Amino acid sequence: MFKANDNYLKLPGSYLFSTVARKQREYVAAHPDCNIIRLSIGDVTQPLAPAIIEALHKAVDEMAVAETFRGYAPDLGYDFLRSAIVENDYKARGVDIATDEVFVSDGAKSDSANIQEIFAADSKIAVCDPVYPVYVDSNVMAGRTGTYDSTTGLWSDVIYMPCSAANKFAPELPKETPDIIYLCFPNNPTGATVKKEKLQEFVDYANKVGAVIVYDAAYEAYISEDDVPHSIYECDGAKTCAIELKSFSKNAGFTGTRLGYVIVPKELKDAEGTSLNALWARRHGTKFNGAPYIVQRAGEAVYSEAGKAQTREQIAYYMNNAKVISEGLKAAGYTVSGGVNAPYIWLKTPEGMTSWEFFDYLLDKANVVGTPGSGFGPSGEGYFRLTAFGTYESTVEAIERIKKL
Ligand code: MLT
Repeated sequence: MFKANDNYLKLPGSYLFSTVARKQREYVAAHPDCNIIRLSIGDVTQPLAPAIIEALHKAVDEMAVAETFRGYAPDLGYDFLRSAIVENDYKARGVDIATDEVFVSDGAKSDSANIQEIFAADSKIAVCDPVYPVYVDSNVMAGRTGTYDSTTGLWSDVIYMPCSAANKFAPELPKETPDIIYLCFPNNPTGATVKKEKLQEFVDYANKVGAVIVYDAAYEAYISEDDVPHSIYECDGAKTCAIELKSFSKNAGFTGTRLGYVIVPKELKDAEGTSLNALWARRHGTKFNGAPYIVQRAGEAVYSEAGKAQTREQIAYYMNNAKVISEGLKAAGYTVSGGVNAPYIWLKTPEGMTSWEFFDYLLDKANVVGTPGSGFGPSGEGYFRLTAFGTYESTVEAIERIKKL
């Protein structure tokens, strides 16, 4: 009889956002007249910008004509998009990345889950705590994380870098030497960022101990302060130790359209001198047939003058929501962080409630859905995440309801 991959059976419960969605559904079923405001999953609410829609229409029309019809996309991405990425996301910031170091994908979630495949099965991972759950779960599926302690919420073979109010939610270097270090800045879930100096410390450390950093920069477009790096390659020596993940979901509203990319520098080699760039290309070639042509054209339009201006406006819109949440909660007496360089607001739950107790309380008393901090890891217990990706009107309404509690 066949057997399932029992690594999957080690995963505790369902995926965080599935659990949140299920609880919301159950509540609505029991209270059909309630008026729910969802500030839980970081899903955008503003429609795609006009320049992107125009590019999509044009690309769809091309698909209707024999001469311009496209079949399989190049598995690593069309050159027009890879070049636009290099020019705008890197060269414009003084970072030299080659087009064949850019791997276009259908989004950063799958990249952040899949990237672990190119590392040895016994690689030791280090993660921030709290952490975007995909990094840990994908390594659980790969059998790298040891056993789960349901009392502490920790995996025996994972190195945790706790992020708390005491360190301003910025991790210290790991206490044990890891092989793979996952970092995400601006951070999901805390909304914290690190200055360049701090990131440089991690880069220097990784180069020294021979670790690789998987750097998730999905929220980079939300950085408003100077001296906060937009890319890890702004740090010296990052090309020999870091892979960077980027998404079009949060900066340009592609959560439903799906587009992302990974940078794997050619200088990045393992202990035996194996090129990770070549391995990721091999992996893409086998498991991926390229992001759709029309979506890649839409991605290219994000970098047009009109696209840049329009997406900047959307980011400003969401950051205004972040301000509404942050200031509103502070006025109501909450302890709040994040929301300055990121679309996430991280708040301390009131009166010693656990994260899930506060989730239930907010859902029931204010009909507002957020994300329990403990879902991101044990150091998230007693915290709660709200997203700024709602509409302005629903964000204002949610905060008004919370203030009245
Ligand atoms: C989140 O809410 O943490 C994100 O939207 C999840 C994701 O990007 O996959």
